[in-house]
Amino acid sequence: MGSQPSRYRVGSDFGCCAARIEIVQGVMEALPHPDGHFDFVWCRDVVEQLDFLMAALKGAARLLKRDGHMLVYTAFITELLAPQEFEMLERHMGNVSSNLVERNVEEAFDSAGLAIERKDVVGTEYKEFAEERTQPSSRTLLRIARLRRLRTSVAESHGEDIYDHVEANLHWEVFQFLGKLQPTVYVLKRR
Ligand SMILES: C[S@@+](CC[C@H](N)C(=O)[O-])C[C@H]1O[C@@H](n2cnc3c(N)ncnc32)[C@H](O)[C@@H]1O
Repeated sequence: MGSQPSRYRVGSDFGCCAARIEIVQGVMEALPHPDGHFDFVWCRDVVEQLDFLMAALKGAARLLKRDGHMLVYTAFITELLAPQEFEMLERHMGNVSSNLVERNVEEAFDSAGLAIERKDVVGTEYKEFAEERTQPSSRTLLRIARLRRLRTSVAESHGEDIYDHVEANLHWEVFQFLGKLQPTVYVLKRR
């Protein structure tokens, strides 16, 4: 189970496996598959955006086989994130602020019948690794500077809400580098 299926061209992106892949568009809380259908659910950077966190996690748990696993990669706010920075992140149009709180998400796993088998706090490590190679955070800082310099014209042409969203989205990358957001990986098991 993934998301944004339209980004993928099954034929060319999956090569020889294409014939064995079925793309179904839907939301986690209402997928058409029967209970216990999947061995594994892969859920990367989706928890942050779930409007109905509990219903979506219950939906994923329902789809898992008894001994099935679910991998969740998500990011949480840390004590390094200032209140003003949190307010900026709240203007992101996709994220749900309460899903950025570790305790809320772990309680939701539990209530949805998903036990944490393994938890790996990635922290800043991944962004350090990436920065040494392709400098994504530096390039994002450059984009932030340019966006802010052009604030008036961007807001006039696209709207304040779009400006705010883009500003928050760009900070998502940099805040992970600074440890203000904490990427975390879970391996979950259906209880
Ligand atoms: C930040 S994107 C990550 C996309 C992809 N997993 C990746 O790692 O590139 C968040 C995705 O979550 C999807 N999403 C939001 N609510 C969802 C839901 N209830 N069920 C399934 N996907 C959802 C959005 O459509 C969006 O594609």
